[in-house]
Amino acid sequence: MLGIIGGSGFYSAGYTENLRHIEVVTEYSDAAVPIELVETEKPFAFLARHGKEHHIPPHEINYRANIDALRLAGVTEIVAINAVGGIAEGTGPGSIIIPDQLIDYTWGRHSTYCGQSKRFVQHVDFSFPFDQALSDKLVSAVNTINDQSEAARPVVVGGVYGVTQGPRLETAAEIRKMRRDGCDIVGMTAMPEAVLARELGIKYGMLALSVNWAAGILPTVVTMEEIEAVLVDGQQFLRRVIARITDA
Ligand code: HPA
Repeated sequence: MLGIIGGSGFYSAGYTENLRHIEVVTEYSDAAVPIELVETEKPFAFLARHGKEHHIPPHEINYRANIDALRLAGVTEIVAINAVGGIAEGTGPGSIIIPDQLIDYTWGRHSTYCGQSKRFVQHVDFSFPFDQALSDKLVSAVNTINDQSEAARPVVVGGVYGVTQGPRLETAAEIRKMRRDGCDIVGMTAMPEAVLARELGIKYGMLALSVNWAAGILPTVVTMEEIEAVLVDGQQFLRRVIARITDA
Protein backbone atom coordinates (compact mmCIF):
# COMPACT_ATOMS: atom_id res chain seq x y z
CA MET A 1 0.00 0.00 0.00
CA LEU A 2 1.10 3.55 -0.74
CA GLY A 3 1.67 5.95 2.15
CA ILE A 4 1.71 9.72 1.76
CA ILE A 5 3.60 11.85 4.28
CA GLY A 6 2.30 15.40 4.21
CA GLY A 7 4.65 18.23 5.15
CA SER A 8 4.04 21.91 5.86
CA GLY A 9 0.62 23.00 4.63
CA PHE A 10 -0.50 19.44 3.94
CA TYR A 11 -2.23 18.04 7.00
CA SER A 12 -4.90 15.72 5.63
CA ALA A 13 -5.56 13.46 2.66
CA GLY A 14 -8.62 15.64 2.07
CA TYR A 15 -11.20 12.85 2.06
CA THR A 16 -14.47 12.90 3.99
CA GLU A 17 -15.81 9.59 2.72
CA ASN A 18 -14.15 6.19 2.62
CA LEU A 19 -11.96 7.49 5.39
CA ARG A 20 -10.89 5.72 8.57
CA HIS A 21 -8.75 7.30 11.29
CA ILE A 22 -6.44 4.86 13.00
CA GLU A 23 -3.96 5.31 15.84
CA VAL A 24 -0.94 3.07 15.55
CA VAL A 25 1.02 2.16 18.65
CA THR A 26 4.73 1.62 18.11
CA GLU A 27 7.57 0.91 20.47
CA TYR A 28 9.16 4.26 19.61
CA SER A 29 6.66 6.55 21.27
CA ASP A 30 4.21 6.62 24.16
CA ALA A 31 1.75 8.44 21.95
CA ALA A 32 0.08 6.50 19.14
CA VAL A 33 0.65 7.79 15.61
CA PRO A 34 -2.52 9.09 13.91
CA ILE A 35 -2.91 7.87 10.34
CA GLU A 36 -5.72 8.41 7.84
CA LEU A 37 -6.64 5.33 5.84
CA VAL A 38 -8.37 6.20 2.61
CA GLU A 39 -10.32 3.11 1.65
CA THR A 40 -11.11 3.68 -2.00
CA GLU A 41 -10.52 1.15 -4.77
CA LYS A 42 -6.81 1.65 -4.30
CA PRO A 43 -6.39 2.29 -0.57
CA PHE A 44 -3.63 4.48 0.74
CA ALA A 45 -2.46 5.85 4.08
CA PHE A 46 -1.78 9.47 5.00
CA LEU A 47 0.35 10.80 7.83
CA ALA A 48 0.87 14.49 8.72
CA ARG A 49 4.56 14.78 9.56
CA HIS A 50 4.18 17.92 11.68
CA GLY A 51 0.89 16.82 13.25
CA LYS A 52 -2.55 18.05 12.26
CA GLU A 53 -1.96 21.48 13.79
CA HIS A 54 1.63 21.79 12.61
CA HIS A 55 2.81 21.68 16.20
CA ILE A 56 5.83 19.37 15.82
CA PRO A 57 9.01 21.11 14.58
CA PRO A 58 11.38 19.18 12.26
CA HIS A 59 13.91 18.28 14.97
CA GLU A 60 11.20 16.95 17.28
CA ILE A 61 9.32 14.77 14.83
CA ASN A 62 9.37 11.16 15.96
CA TYR A 63 10.55 9.82 12.60
CA ARG A 64 11.04 6.29 13.89
CA ALA A 65 7.50 6.08 15.24
CA ASN A 66 6.05 7.58 12.06
CA ILE A 67 7.78 5.22 9.65
CA ASP A 68 7.19 2.17 11.81
CA ALA A 69 3.51 3.12 12.17
CA LEU A 70 3.19 3.31 8.39
CA ARG A 71 4.84 -0.10 8.09
CA LEU A 72 2.44 -1.55 10.65
CA ALA A 73 -0.47 -0.06 8.72
CA GLY A 74 0.70 -2.00 5.66
CA VAL A 75 2.63 0.69 3.77
CA THR A 76 5.28 -0.59 1.37
CA GLU A 77 6.06 2.64 -0.49
CA ILE A 78 6.08 6.25 0.65
CA VAL A 79 5.65 9.48 -1.24
CA ALA A 80 6.90 12.34 0.91
CA ILE A 81 5.65 15.85 0.30
CA ASN A 82 8.13 18.51 1.37
CA ALA A 83 8.29 22.29 1.32
CA VAL A 84 11.84 23.35 0.50
CA GLY A 85 13.98 26.38 -0.21
CA GLY A 86 15.50 26.72 -3.68
CA ILE A 87 19.27 27.01 -4.16
CA ALA A 88 19.92 25.99 -7.78
CA GLU A 89 18.67 27.73 -10.88
CA GLY A 90 15.11 26.68 -11.69
CA THR A 91 14.19 25.88 -8.09
CA GLY A 92 12.54 29.20 -7.24
CA PRO A 93 9.28 29.58 -5.31
CA GLY A 94 6.41 27.63 -6.84
CA SER A 95 8.58 25.13 -8.70
CA ILE A 96 8.33 21.39 -8.21
CA ILE A 97 11.39 19.24 -7.60
CA ILE A 98 11.68 15.46 -7.57
CA PRO A 99 15.12 15.04 -5.98
CA ASP A 100 17.33 12.02 -6.60
CA GLN A 101 19.99 12.58 -3.93
CA LEU A 102 20.42 14.05 -0.48
CA ILE A 103 23.08 15.26 1.92
CA ASP A 104 22.34 14.99 5.61
CA TYR A 105 23.41 17.94 7.80
CA THR A 106 21.10 17.07 10.70
CA TRP A 107 22.35 16.01 14.11
CA GLY A 108 21.01 14.44 17.29
CA ARG A 109 18.04 12.76 15.62
CA HIS A 110 17.23 9.07 16.09
CA SER A 111 18.29 8.01 12.64
CA THR A 112 18.30 4.23 12.79
CA TYR A 113 16.31 1.29 14.04
CA CYS A 114 19.44 -0.64 14.95
CA GLY A 115 21.40 -0.47 18.16
CA GLN A 116 19.97 0.20 21.63
CA SER A 117 17.63 -2.59 22.68
CA LYS A 118 17.55 -3.99 19.16
CA ARG A 119 21.00 -5.52 19.46
CA PHE A 120 21.67 -5.75 15.77
CA VAL A 121 23.85 -3.88 13.32
CA GLN A 122 22.62 -3.17 9.82
CA HIS A 123 24.60 -1.12 7.30
CA VAL A 124 21.93 -0.44 4.71
CA ASP A 125 22.94 0.59 1.22
CA PHE A 126 21.86 4.18 0.77
CA SER A 127 23.69 5.07 -2.47
CA PHE A 128 20.41 6.09 -4.06
CA PRO A 129 18.08 7.28 -1.31
CA PHE A 130 15.06 7.83 -3.54
CA ASP A 131 13.29 5.00 -5.34
CA GLN A 132 13.65 5.45 -9.09
CA ALA A 133 10.34 3.88 -10.13
CA LEU A 134 8.43 5.94 -7.59
CA SER A 135 10.23 9.10 -8.71
CA ASP A 136 9.41 8.30 -12.36
CA LYS A 137 5.77 7.91 -11.40
CA LEU A 138 5.84 11.30 -9.67
CA VAL A 139 7.49 12.98 -12.66
CA SER A 140 4.90 11.57 -15.01
CA ALA A 141 2.03 12.63 -12.71
CA VAL A 142 3.47 16.16 -12.38
CA ASN A 143 3.87 16.43 -16.15
CA THR A 144 0.28 15.29 -16.70
CA ILE A 145 -1.10 17.83 -14.23
CA ASN A 146 1.08 20.51 -15.83
CA ASP A 147 -0.31 19.57 -19.27
CA GLN A 148 -3.84 20.03 -17.92
CA SER A 149 -3.05 23.37 -16.26
CA GLU A 150 -3.19 26.78 -17.84
CA ALA A 151 -0.09 27.92 -16.00
CA ALA A 152 2.43 25.08 -15.89
CA ARG A 153 4.84 24.96 -12.98
CA PRO A 154 8.59 24.63 -13.57
CA VAL A 155 9.66 21.07 -12.80
CA VAL A 156 13.15 19.95 -11.88
CA VAL A 157 13.77 16.23 -12.26
CA GLY A 158 16.60 15.09 -10.00
CA GLY A 159 18.66 17.24 -7.69
CA VAL A 160 20.28 17.13 -4.30
CA TYR A 161 18.21 17.85 -1.19
CA GLY A 162 20.37 19.20 1.67
CA VAL A 163 18.74 18.38 4.99
CA THR A 164 19.37 20.95 7.74
CA GLN A 165 18.54 20.74 11.42
CA GLY A 166 16.27 23.74 11.75
CA PRO A 167 13.95 24.99 12.93
CA ARG A 168 15.78 28.19 12.07
CA LEU A 169 16.48 28.91 8.45
CA GLU A 170 20.10 28.93 7.25
CA THR A 171 22.60 31.77 7.08
CA ALA A 172 23.63 33.02 3.65
CA ALA A 173 27.11 31.54 4.22
CA GLU A 174 25.62 28.14 5.06
CA ILE A 175 23.67 28.19 1.82
CA ARG A 176 26.83 29.19 -0.10
CA LYS A 177 28.57 26.20 1.49
CA MET A 178 25.66 23.92 0.65
CA ARG A 179 25.77 25.15 -2.93
CA ARG A 180 29.49 24.28 -3.07
CA ASP A 181 28.61 20.88 -1.64
CA GLY A 182 26.25 20.36 -4.57
CA CYS A 183 22.89 20.95 -2.89
CA ASP A 184 20.09 22.14 -5.17
CA ILE A 185 17.36 22.53 -2.56
CA VAL A 186 17.24 22.76 1.22
CA GLY A 187 14.74 21.42 3.72
CA MET A 188 14.62 20.01 7.23
CA THR A 189 12.73 16.73 7.13
CA ALA A 190 14.01 14.28 4.49
CA MET A 191 16.34 12.78 7.07
CA PRO A 192 16.13 10.53 8.91
CA GLU A 193 12.78 9.82 7.25
CA ALA A 194 14.32 8.44 4.05
CA VAL A 195 16.87 6.19 5.73
CA LEU A 196 14.40 4.78 8.24
CA ALA A 197 12.15 3.82 5.34
CA ARG A 198 15.16 2.17 3.68
CA GLU A 199 15.97 0.22 6.85
CA LEU A 200 12.43 -1.13 6.91
CA GLY A 201 12.48 -1.99 3.21
CA ILE A 202 9.94 0.71 2.31
CA LYS A 203 10.43 2.52 -1.01
CA TYR A 204 10.68 6.30 -0.66
CA GLY A 205 10.14 9.05 -3.23
CA MET A 206 9.70 12.80 -2.84
CA LEU A 207 7.54 15.53 -4.28
CA ALA A 208 9.05 18.83 -3.18
CA LEU A 209 7.53 22.28 -3.56
CA SER A 210 9.91 25.21 -3.41
CA VAL A 211 8.40 27.90 -1.19
CA ASN A 212 11.28 30.41 -1.11
CA TRP A 213 14.72 31.15 -2.43
CA ALA A 214 17.18 29.94 0.20
CA ALA A 215 19.02 32.47 2.38
CA GLY A 216 21.31 34.82 0.54
CA ILE A 217 20.23 33.84 -2.98
CA LEU A 218 18.31 37.12 -3.10
CA PRO A 219 19.60 40.28 -1.39
CA THR A 220 16.45 40.33 0.80
CA VAL A 221 15.71 38.21 3.87
CA VAL A 222 13.34 35.23 3.83
CA THR A 223 9.90 36.01 5.25
CA MET A 224 7.26 33.63 6.57
CA GLU A 225 4.59 35.60 4.72
CA GLU A 226 6.16 34.81 1.35
CA ILE A 227 6.59 31.14 2.30
CA GLU A 228 2.99 30.88 3.50
CA ALA A 229 1.62 32.43 0.33
CA VAL A 230 3.54 30.03 -1.95
CA LEU A 231 2.54 27.08 0.24
CA VAL A 232 -1.14 27.96 0.00
CA ASP A 233 -0.84 28.55 -3.72
CA GLY A 234 0.89 25.20 -4.26
CA GLN A 235 -1.54 23.00 -2.32
CA GLN A 236 -4.01 22.46 -5.11
CA PHE A 237 -1.29 21.39 -7.53
CA LEU A 238 0.20 18.96 -5.01
CA ARG A 239 -3.23 17.53 -4.28
CA ARG A 240 -3.87 16.96 -7.97
CA VAL A 241 -0.56 15.13 -8.30
CA ILE A 242 -1.38 12.99 -5.27
CA ALA A 243 -4.87 12.25 -6.59
CA ARG A 244 -3.26 11.08 -9.81
CA ILE A 245 -0.75 8.73 -8.20
CA THR A 246 -3.29 7.32 -5.76
CA ASP A 247 -5.74 6.71 -8.64
CA ALA A 248 -3.44 5.22 -11.22
N1 HPA B 1 15.56 26.21 4.47
C1 HPA B 1 15.28 25.06 5.11
N2 HPA B 1 14.10 24.47 5.05
C2 HPA B 1 13.14 25.07 4.32
C3 HPA B 1 13.36 26.26 3.62
C4 HPA B 1 14.64 26.87 3.70
O1 HPA B 1 14.92 27.94 3.12
N3 HPA B 1 12.19 26.58 3.01
C5 HPA B 1 11.31 25.59 3.32
N4 HPA B 1 11.88 24.66 4.10
